[in-house]
Amino acid sequence: MPKDVLILGIESSCDETAAAVVKNGREVLSNIISSQIDIHTLYGGVVPEIASRKHIERINYVIEEALANAGVILNDVDAISVTYGPGLAGALLVGVNTAKAIAYAVRKPLTGVHHIEGHIAANYIEHPGLKPPFLCLVVSGGHTHLVQVKGYNNFEIIGCTHDDAAGEAFDKVARAIGLGYPGGPAIDRLAKSGNPYAIAFPRAKVEGHEYDFSFSGLKSAVLNYLNSCEMKDVEINNADIAASFQQAVIDVLVTRAVNAARKTGDNCIAVAGGVAANSALRASMEENCHKNGIKLYYPSPVYCTDNAAMIAVQGYYNYISGKRSGLDLNAVPNLRLGI
Ligand code: KG4
Ligand code: ZN
Repeated sequence: MPKDVLILGIESSCDETAAAVVKNGREVLSNIISSQIDIHTLYGGVVPEIASRKHIERINYVIEEALANAGVILNDVDAISVTYGPGLAGALLVGVNTAKAIAYAVRKPLTGVHHIEGHIAANYIEHPGLKPPFLCLVVSGGHTHLVQVKGYNNFEIIGCTHDDAAGEAFDKVARAIGLGYPGGPAIDRLAKSGNPYAIAFPRAKVEGHEYDFSFSGLKSAVLNYLNSCEMKDVEINNADIAASFQQAVIDVLVTRAVNAARKTGDNCIAVAGGVAANSALRASMEENCHKNGIKLYYPSPVYCTDNAAMIAVQGYYNYISGKRSGLDLNAVPNLRLGI
């Protein structure tokens, strides 16, 4: 029987300080997330300086708790994995430097993980049968990508956003209708009591790029709608706006993902990133994938938004394929996928 491989994962790319221990790339032994949302919400969005400071204050406690909950000590761990990009420079540096210090102190291998590869890998946690190749719709606060996952370490981007990411659009529209930060979960909740077809918001296509996305026009359409209601003194129904906006985003995401799978021949789609937690997106993906004979996977909400278990899972696949980082590993805020 091969020896179990334990990976300590560390994530600090945005506003969650997180650490986790994962066994053999699939079994989560602990998953600690210290969210800073309560602080950033006061400012209507993430303040990078504050995020870095809070990571520094919390990271050691979060790691200690992750090890304790898993019932292991640092010496039991086979490798340390850490998000090194993309993300906020100062925030990433806290995780990267902590991981390097631990790797050096306990003489363990270090492997830097791409944050989006981590989001994709979150799907392996609860779906033991899921293996590449598959198509992944990555929808987070900073990214909207259609990715062909050809292997655990082999990714090809076939579609991306030309402007706002899907999560960013949720956050901006939520702010415009007074729902605060983060907007996605608030819109998800409010939309349940609204009519998704009350207002005809645009479903943008990107000419010549059939798998690409654009959400800035949709965001402007919502703002224009709000302005025109105010000018005409028409009553604003926030639930209808939330539901109609959400439906416009979902229609575009689902159509592009399903069309891409049909054309590339992928019979399996995984959804990843914070917006993958959206209940209406999940329902619409279920319906459309079922209609087209495509298998669908998505993580539980806790593994959709930022966490370190997903970083440890991808770290495991990096580790067993021999991918190692040196102690000169640096934060790369605009790191591209597949490098
Ligand atoms: O993946 P994530 O935690 O961080 C990034 O890597 O960006 O994604 C955060 C984004 C935010 O924009 C948040 O509003 C959105 O995911 N989000 C949601 C939901 N939960 C989180 N968007 C729509 N519906 C949700 N239920
Ligand atoms: Zn993320």
